[in-house]
Amino acid sequence: MEVNMSEYSISPNGEKFPLPGPEDYSKEFERVKRLAGEQRARGLEIVVVMGIGFVGAVMAAVVADAQDKEGNPTKFVIGMQRPSSRSFWKIPLLNRGISPVSSEDPEVPLMINRCVNEKKTLTATYTYDALKLADVVIVDIQCDYLKEALGNVRDGRADMVALEESFEIIAQNISPQTLVLIETTVAPGTTEQIAYPIMRKAFQKKGITSDPVLAHSFERVMPGRNYVASIRDFWRVCSGVNEESTQRVVKFLNEVLNTEKFPLTVLDRPIESETAKIVENSFRATLLAFMDEWSLFAERNGVDLTKVINAIKIRPTHSNIIFPGPGIGGYCLPKDGGLGIWAYRHIHGFEDDIFKITPLAVDINDTRSLHVAQLTRDALRNMSRPIASAEILVLGASYREDVGDTRYSGSELIVRRLTEMGAELRIHDPYVLHWWEFEKQDEYPASSHGMKRFFRGQEKLKDLRVEQDLNHALQGIDALIFAVRHKHYLNLDPDEVVKYAGGPIAVIDCFGILDDEKIGRYFELGCEVKGLGRGHVKRIKDQVRAKREQLLLDISTKDEKGELNLRKEDLELITNGVKLGAED
Ligand SMILES: NC(=O)c1ccc[n+]([C@@H]2O[C@H](COP(=O)([O-])OP(=O)(O)OC[C@H]3O[C@@H](n4cnc5c(N)ncnc54)[C@H](O)[C@@H]3O)[C@@H](O)[C@H]2O)c1
Repeated sequence: MEVNMSEYSISPNGEKFPLPGPEDYSKEFERVKRLAGEQRARGLEIVVVMGIGFVGAVMAAVVADAQDKEGNPTKFVIGMQRPSSRSFWKIPLLNRGISPVSSEDPEVPLMINRCVNEKKTLTATYTYDALKLADVVIVDIQCDYLKEALGNVRDGRADMVALEESFEIIAQNISPQTLVLIETTVAPGTTEQIAYPIMRKAFQKKGITSDPVLAHSFERVMPGRNYVASIRDFWRVCSGVNEESTQRVVKFLNEVLNTEKFPLTVLDRPIESETAKIVENSFRATLLAFMDEWSLFAERNGVDLTKVINAIKIRPTHSNIIFPGPGIGGYCLPKDGGLGIWAYRHIHGFEDDIFKITPLAVDINDTRSLHVAQLTRDALRNMSRPIASAEILVLGASYREDVGDTRYSGSELIVRRLTEMGAELRIHDPYVLHWWEFEKQDEYPASSHGMKRFFRGQEKLKDLRVEQDLNHALQGIDALIFAVRHKHYLNLDPDEVVKYAGGPIAVIDCFGILDDEKIGRYFELGCEVKGLGRGHVKRIKDQVRAKREQLLLDISTKDEKGELNLRKEDLELITNGVKLGAED
């Protein structure tokens, strides 16, 4: 019998969960209602977290883990997630006590297991009816910014559909006194000018005359080694649409977060909290983008940008200067500036164009990784190998080190551009089992908005699989791209790499991963090395070349005197050095 895959949701490790049918909803609501009733009787507040993604899943656990001074739990949390084929699997997994997000932070799985299976303060569901049970609703669903062109953030729009629908559904279901806390990063103005009127109207339809209790407090979560702490033990900003909402949100956050050590900042209006998030991320995007031109300067003028940055960082006033990797990915930095620019026109109605730096920064960051393809082409050319049909291994698929999050990673564009240029790509990442941006490239992240549409010749990439065995992945490659600073890549031995590759290769360092000694060793082994912002590699190459020439000179004199007694490394350098091309 043919299985209709759209009726299933498949978890990242391949488990298949049938989607619920219409007949399942009332039974499911009875289940959560019973659980919530029992917990309310114990004095716990009921909190519904909408969207159990990267933020919602861990926020839900943090709230479910909260306790009073006597150590008793204070909240029962229902994680609510739409039963789409893409996301439904998160619900049954969470209900077993398994985290739906993978993380380097050991506290994530421990906390989720503890709350689900021991404290029994956390469950997950797909029914919106759960909202009827809530004292507090936390909105953690996404608000995407959809770009229509590569490297032009102005040509795009905020995707408000899921969010607007959710505001209406929430208001239809909650009681008038339920606190609705929007944590989603939104276009500034959304809480007061979009959510508030939608919810008020829905309230009025139900005959409720009071204002919704509505607030905004953005997340600063970093899904890495300190995932949980970045939610619970970190400073928060918040604001409510009126005095009551502000008081409620402050009380709630004080109850669930470590605000004694990390006090709240309460702003007057939600638009200020929303703007704080956008400015915070645009500031960081700008710092990174600013280094792109200096990275090119460094490459062309014999400068090692990593050393320059370390030299500057010593000044306390400049300690947050950062080396940009191959493109600035992650879910937030590529889109948040766009949300601000879009809001200015489409929420606030301004016609003029006040934004210069923010869009430029996003555009620079969005295209930085394409330069890696040029470096790879040039390194291979120096070895007299064409890029077409070259076997290239990219180390790291995620957007940052030691996490398994591939959203908008620089590596994706490196793979796409090099594929367009005719190369054969391989990928290794110890944190990523499936790179959905390729495996499901026609539907992920959305059918109309994948990066695929900006490149030609991408069809074969749906067969790209993430290698887990590095030595196997290295076999027979022509080029190796160090794209992410995963800890697994920091100490790779050039001799081992070249041994597994089966001979000299082109090595591209995108993230200041190779120190000078390793760069030198790669040259000695006959490899070609290039790196983002690493203009000094040419100097190291010249040194290796000079060393080889000196050796040759010594040999000829020793030969004449009959004293020729060469070391193995000398022989290697003499043989491999022939391949050290003069071009750059
Ligand atoms: N990921 C981060 O590092 C990070 C950091 C800070 C802030 N944020 C912000 O937090 C928000 C959420 O981001 P995320 O990374 O968790 O996104 P995500 O895509 O991982 O999660 C969103 C979840 O919401 C679900 N969802 C969508 N519509 C829904 C609906 N109507 N009802 C119930 N569930 C629904 C989706 O299926 C998904 O599981 C975004 O605004 C993001 O900008 C994210």
